[in-house]
Amino acid sequence: MASETDWNERYQNEDTPWDKGEPAPGLVDWLKQNTLKLDSRVLVPGCGRGHDASVWAKAGFETTGIDLSNLALSDARQEYESLPCLAFLPGNFLEDEPNEPYDLIFEHTLYCAIDPARRAEYAKAVDKHLKPGGHFLAIHFLFSLSEEGPPFGASQQEILDQFSPYFKLLEQWKPKSFEGRENEERMFLWSKN
Ligand SMILES: C[S@@+](CC[C@H](N)C(=O)[O-])C[C@H]1O[C@@H](n2cnc3c(N)ncnc32)[C@H](O)[C@@H]1O
Repeated sequence: MASETDWNERYQNEDTPWDKGEPAPGLVDWLKQNTLKLDSRVLVPGCGRGHDASVWAKAGFETTGIDLSNLALSDARQEYESLPCLAFLPGNFLEDEPNEPYDLIFEHTLYCAIDPARRAEYAKAVDKHLKPGGHFLAIHFLFSLSEEGPPFGASQQEILDQFSPYFKLLEQWKPKSFEGRENEERMFLWSKN
């Protein structure tokens, strides 16, 4: 097992190179053409400072961001508190039991941030937090699996193997990315039966 990351300390030290201060370009693009019903409830696990969660809320979806780090959550609340239908709550995605499962889960840089030994738990957590008929939309960071992290790498095949037992793959594509991540990201849309 990799040594555990102290996420609050990373935020306290401003050691947050993943945070680009804005939502992922691939998500912004997807939201322009999505056909998801507006009454869908969306979960963003590992939401960090909330940039991705904020665009879901701006697009009209009731959105919940959860994170282990209270500092990240307090920054998220401060920046986005004026948006309706948006809540930032403390939570452990791998261990929590959802009160009410969601219609859609959006993943961005959480899967690659957790210890690879816990990835099977992650896939189970997505299943647990999602309603039947729900969707899992993910932007995965793809590069060779590393022992040093976060981020820990992952391959396209590993992602397919991890989630196929639970979900049906509807689509995968190379998204528009932040500068410097152009060849490292892939988006996947899955549905739960
Ligand atoms: C690499 S950061 C990405 C943050 C955000 N998604 C972004 O792209 O800016 C990973 C985030 O996941 C959070 N995190 C790590 N493990 C978690 C868990 N088990 N449950 C909830 N959040 C977790 C960390 O606190 C951190 O904010």
